[in-house]
Amino acid sequence: MRRSAGASTVVWVHDQNPSCPASPSTDASAPLMPPLFDWRFAADPYPAYAWLREHAPVRKTRVPSGVEAWLVTRYADARQALADPRLSKSPHHHGEQGAHGKGKVGIPGERSANLMTHLLNIDPPDHTRLRRLVSTAFTPRRVAAFAPRVRELADTLIDGFAGRGEADLIHEYAFPLPIYAICDMLGVPRQDQEDFRSWAGMMIHQPGSPRGGVGRAVKRMRGYLAELIHRKRAELDRRGEGADDLISGLIRASDHGEHLTENEAAAMAFILLFAGFETTVNLIGNGTYALLRHPGQRAVLQRAVADGDTGLLATAVEELLRYDGPVELATWRFATRELTLGGQRVREGDPVLIVLAAADRDPDKFDAPDTLDLTRSDNQHLGYGHGIHYCLGAPLARLEGRTALAALLHRLPDLRLAAQPEELRWRGGLIMRGLRTLPVEFTARG
Ligand code: HEM
Repeated sequence: MRRSAGASTVVWVHDQNPSCPASPSTDASAPLMPPLFDWRFAADPYPAYAWLREHAPVRKTRVPSGVEAWLVTRYADARQALADPRLSKSPHHHGEQGAHGKGKVGIPGERSANLMTHLLNIDPPDHTRLRRLVSTAFTPRRVAAFAPRVRELADTLIDGFAGRGEADLIHEYAFPLPIYAICDMLGVPRQDQEDFRSWAGMMIHQPGSPRGGVGRAVKRMRGYLAELIHRKRAELDRRGEGADDLISGLIRASDHGEHLTENEAAAMAFILLFAGFETTVNLIGNGTYALLRHPGQRAVLQRAVADGDTGLLATAVEELLRYDGPVELATWRFATRELTLGGQRVREGDPVLIVLAAADRDPDKFDAPDTLDLTRSDNQHLGYGHGIHYCLGAPLARLEGRTALAALLHRLPDLRLAAQPEELRWRGGLIMRGLRTLPVEFTARG
């Protein structure tokens, strides 16, 4: 629908998606905006993001949960908004009180499970204190020491399907690897890790996982973590030293100076699991899918892996994060006062969603942004965010991504897609971008 409004022509763009209200663009020659948040959009959101970047770079939109939020799509605006202290992470600043409790913004079930005090829900000074604390436990040394375990996990999982000549790479590889990795790192005993696998499956509705919503899985995880923290603290008190795992490290750090309440410790362990799991599933899933659809690029990476060229492996993983990253939108932010963003007036209490996937394809920032170029070296993508909430687990994610992709290309050199791209289904969530399944085939190996 188009209409003229006085001297300046306003185009009312008719979104075919009824959940997405019509809104004005000032460009009379603009083509209609592709629909947002339907299944076609899930398969390929990039044309709609290109439209938004060009015609309505900061645009109020109703998201599928029913909440109206500003979508920010240009790189420069996105980077500025990610670091803007006027945008709070705390749902208390949301104008629509109660939306968080109903799971319309944030992680469903976290409020009722008493898990609100984690890094992605808080602002300075609490954020500064808790981030410093966890940083002392989540050190580069700890991540580096973990490399052999990640490689062992990748090999064991590949052993599980290599003899069959076909597999669903999400279910059998991308999904279990990060769960076992983060459980090991936190110090969840091996015999309890299957519980985590099933709770994590409930969270992302993984086929074969027990039925029940995200809220139920979050509650179970919370109960387990509280008990585990209790046990580890008792072990530390009894023996004077505990295991060399992340939860024991957190308890130790809180005993030496700054205080971490038991509730904060549970919320911290929870967010490490939550933030570190589906993201990495999608890095491995989206990354492998992109490689399979770009045989020339995949051949370059395969040669580099065979030659032990870790430099190219590193730039390749960054490019895969930019090209089709796991976190499509940064997590919810709320304006603490009126502000201007990309020329739009954002009111106090308004939710703001920064579209990392759109920013990372902005032609004003990246040359040939829609081209996958694994050798791209000037690549300041926003896939891990920016500012004080920059991904805490980035070193672990990089380790897992590089290891998982290298192991696949090395062990299954003729890996290929076993479905047409249009047959693949993407998960419907707002924040994350990832495939439900990734069927592949390859020459079976004993
Ligand atoms: C490829 C994998 C990953 C990607 C793409 C990713 C991406 C991100 C992004 C975009 C943010 C910022 C969100 C925002 O500002 O709204 C973030 C924050 C965070 N990530 Fe990751 N992440 C990944 C893996 C991990 C892993 C493995 C862990 C931990 C084990 C982790 C832990 C966290 C935590 C704790 C935060 C919150 C930091 C803060 O608020 O200070 N992430 N991540």
